Amino acid sequence: MKKKERYNIAVLGATGAVGRAMLHTLERRGFPIGDLRLLASPRSAGQTLEFGGRLYEVQAATEEAFAGVDIALFSAGASASLTYAPLAVRQGAVVVDNSSAYRLEPDVPLVVPEVNPDAAFSHKGIIANPNCSTIQLVVALKPLVEFGIEHVSVSTYQAVSGMGQKAIDALTAEVGGNAETTLFPTASQDTRYPMAYNVLPQCDVFLDNGYTKEEMKLLNESRKILGLPDLKVSPTAVRVPVIYGHSESVAVRFSKPVSAEEVRAKLTGAPGVVVVDDPQHARFPHPRMAEGTGDTFVGRIRQDLADEYTVLMFVVADNLLKGAAWNAVQIAELLVQGAEA
Ligand code: A2P
Repeated sequence: MKKKERYNIAVLGATGAVGRAMLHTLERRGFPIGDLRLLASPRSAGQTLEFGGRLYEVQAATEEAFAGVDIALFSAGASASLTYAPLAVRQGAVVVDNSSAYRLEPDVPLVVPEVNPDAAFSHKGIIANPNCSTIQLVVALKPLVEFGIEHVSVSTYQAVSGMGQKAIDALTAEVGGNAETTLFPTASQDTRYPMAYNVLPQCDVFLDNGYTKEEMKLLNESRKILGLPDLKVSPTAVRVPVIYGHSESVAVRFSKPVSAEEVRAKLTGAPGVVVVDDPQHARFPHPRMAEGTGDTFVGRIRQDLADEYTVLMFVVADNLLKGAAWNAVQIAELLVQGAEA
């Protein structure tokens, strides 16, 4: 990408929960924007959204809509990415794709700027933004890699905003007692369960191996981002009636005995990490603490009582921000920093 004073940006999926968070993050981080194009499905064409005190009209996505765009931030689902990413790249844009469509492609970098920033520069037009629950996990694991991580057991407590704006609306209606129907645990199944006052051990669809897609993302994407192809990961992904912020209970087994104090010291001040760990004063991370921030909060750091090789911790981040929009904008900033004169 050529160095410029301002960059032309397109946001595909601008009307969605992550798309709106992308716009907000671009504004909040003062991204040097020239032209801004807001794209969505034809259903939203003509709608207006505010950015920087100005109203922008949403356009239906087409190949031509990407002409002259430097960086396109995509968050419209995997099938829209598969359709539009090659078209945007053909028009000369670099695509930062929040969907799962390209994440495991060998020639597509999967980037968390605090973890593997250099990977961003090996792109061939598409850079993948990882899955939300994976991003916060690898931000917390990266500083610990030098201790020799052998096995990560992780159970997630995931907010409904990860399922999009419709899921936020559905949970709000259920809690308000005015829901005609209850929330689908996944978009692809007919079985319905209430989400309010409930916990559902299903995020995304089940695969033949008995794990969900979300659980396999935690395994495969963590291995790729950390560059640890043999890392053992035992994942369980659970949806909870929280609007914003994913939490994770993580057990990290090392190849040698490592103390909670060593882990706490390594995480304190690590890039993107905020350690909140003072249980005597009830100081620990929780989703409402992370909401609206780009940080990954870590606390409850303690030795496994049964195993001196294992340390337990609780990891929380805003899934729409660090888990999606914030990370995507950070990748765009890397591209700008690396742009050639
Ligand atoms: P629209 O609002 O017009 O349906 P969420 O995950 O919050 O539901 O948001 C999904 C986003 O992706 C929305 O902006 C939605 O637009 C957009 N989108 C979904 N499918 C397509 C598509 N085929 N082409 C373009 N945009 C799409």
